[in-house]
Amino acid sequence: MALCKESLEGFTVKILGIETSCDETGVAVYEPGAGVLAEALFSQVALHDRFGGIVPELASRDHIAKLTPMVRDVLASAGLELADLDAVAYTAGPGLVGALMVGGSLASGLALGLGIPVIPIHHMEAHLLSPMLVDDPPVLPFLALLVSGGHTLLVEARGVGEYRIIGETLDDAAGEAFDKVARLLSLPYPGGPALAELAQGGDPNAFDFPRPMRHKGLDFSFSGLKTAVRLVLEEVQSLDGRLTDAVRRDVAASFQAAAVDSLVEKCLRALEVTGLGRLVVAGGVGANRRLRTQLKATCADSGVRVYYPSVELCTDNGVMIAFAGWWRREEALSSPAIIARPRWPLSELAPVR
Ligand code: KG4
Ligand code: ZN
Repeated sequence: MALCKESLEGFTVKILGIETSCDETGVAVYEPGAGVLAEALFSQVALHDRFGGIVPELASRDHIAKLTPMVRDVLASAGLELADLDAVAYTAGPGLVGALMVGGSLASGLALGLGIPVIPIHHMEAHLLSPMLVDDPPVLPFLALLVSGGHTLLVEARGVGEYRIIGETLDDAAGEAFDKVARLLSLPYPGGPALAELAQGGDPNAFDFPRPMRHKGLDFSFSGLKTAVRLVLEEVQSLDGRLTDAVRRDVAASFQAAAVDSLVEKCLRALEVTGLGRLVVAGGVGANRRLRTQLKATCADSGVRVYYPSVELCTDNGVMIAFAGWWRREEALSSPAIIARPRWPLSELAPVR
């Protein structure tokens, strides 16, 4: 039941995308040529905030509560009926297993009921392809920096599905480091955006935090940086008794500067090693303004063009899943067995012919 190109000639194709890998419920309908017909996103931030991180069981339960009404609403705002859908794409991994199963179950149930194909999608590939949704999209091959709450990867992408991981984090992911440092600064979850906002009023040179593995290879490490921040905060508190807002701002700005420097330096080295002239940045941390500005400026010096998805599409969403579904349409399953892979290396994906 693959959505093969031949069978599509003269037809418009509408793909429903469902994202439930973590703490965002995302739904969208994408039509090649026409673009995004409708989309909806619900963030569970408020639900997990008081726990300081995501509670998997609560995440699954909330996806169950939100997903079906969101599918109905998205179809209504696109002026579509269920019967107008041609395929359903869903995030099959990596992610929280219970959360993945919610999206997978609804997608497979819909596909079975409607007699249409269901397409399991790799969440990080969807992030990687999302900059192709902008006007004037990047052409393959390119280097991709994928920076989210669970991953920090440098990927040499020679084609869709032809991925070589040339750098990754040896400990915390970049987003995880932002979240953990934000917690040390008593900021709400998720910490990345809150920390970036606090950093705006601070001095990025106030504290000389380490740039771990600066001169070594293409891998990243963020746990030493996080520990350095913790030690500084403990020292300031033991000397002054409390953390002033000015110190918190300076710590946030100095941490952000160190984390961004590490990401930028590794990108430059990877571009040099691979000889690639295009850099794609995606995933939640890709929304970080300092990262965007610094990468753009440094890459421009070496003639490399940088591509980002729109800020809204950096973090998890249903649009990127529907869009990846279009790329992966040949892999649609006719027997909708539900796939939920908490761990799923990007390098295991098959090339798209
Ligand atoms: O891609 P994403 O939405 O979910 C995962 O797949 O993990 O990324 C979420 C991560 C969180 O760690 C969040 O703190 C971080 O992206 N993040 C940011 C910013 N916006 C989101 N980190 C730094 N600066 C931001 N502006
Ligand atoms: Zn993500």
